Amino acid sequence: MADNSRRDFMGKVFGGWAALGGLGALYAAKKSWDPLPSVKAAGFTKVDLSSAEPNVLNVEKWRGKPVFILKKTPEIVAKQSKNETARDVVVGKDHFLVCIGLCTHLGCIPAYEANKEMFKCACHGAEYDVSAINTKAPAPLPMLIPPFRVDGTTLIIGEEGEQYKKMKAAGVLGKKPLNPKA
Ligand code: FES
Repeated sequence: MADNSRRDFMGKVFGGWAALGGLGALYAAKKSWDPLPSVKAAGFTKVDLSSAEPNVLNVEKWRGKPVFILKKTPEIVAKQSKNETARDVVVGKDHFLVCIGLCTHLGCIPAYEANKEMFKCACHGAEYDVSAINTKAPAPLPMLIPPFRVDGTTLIIGEEGEQYKKMKAAGVLGKKPLNPKA
């Protein structure tokens, strides 16, 4: 009898922990999709990047499309290839990935796997690195970098600023295939 009630008690304790764990996972999932403070108007989306947390995906909306914004950790930046770094939006000392969050195969929305620092598309298995360069078929191209301009810590999506023009000239926006390792 004593054993049974002890088992009941332990069951409740572990059940409670499991429920808490579930809540934690839900919270983490919701948090990873939280948008940053932003203003949307006439074809532009202004996003305040100052509260972005490293390695947490933020999803904004621009002209009806999801835009991924990911602040990279210094460790990620340190190990990037030239092509990966060339796609970084630099704000002060911080590096961000900013791209249209649609798989270049057939347009599903890939998920970010923070522990592996990569995107995975559940539709047909395509993968992208932390700079949204495709690393596994069937995705044919990197996820596209939208026109953007940086003003202080504000990102203005929809306007062509200096950094965007540089990326365009370097051919790293995602309109042609890129080697993630080069
Ligand atoms: S739509 Fe992403 S792999 Fe097919």
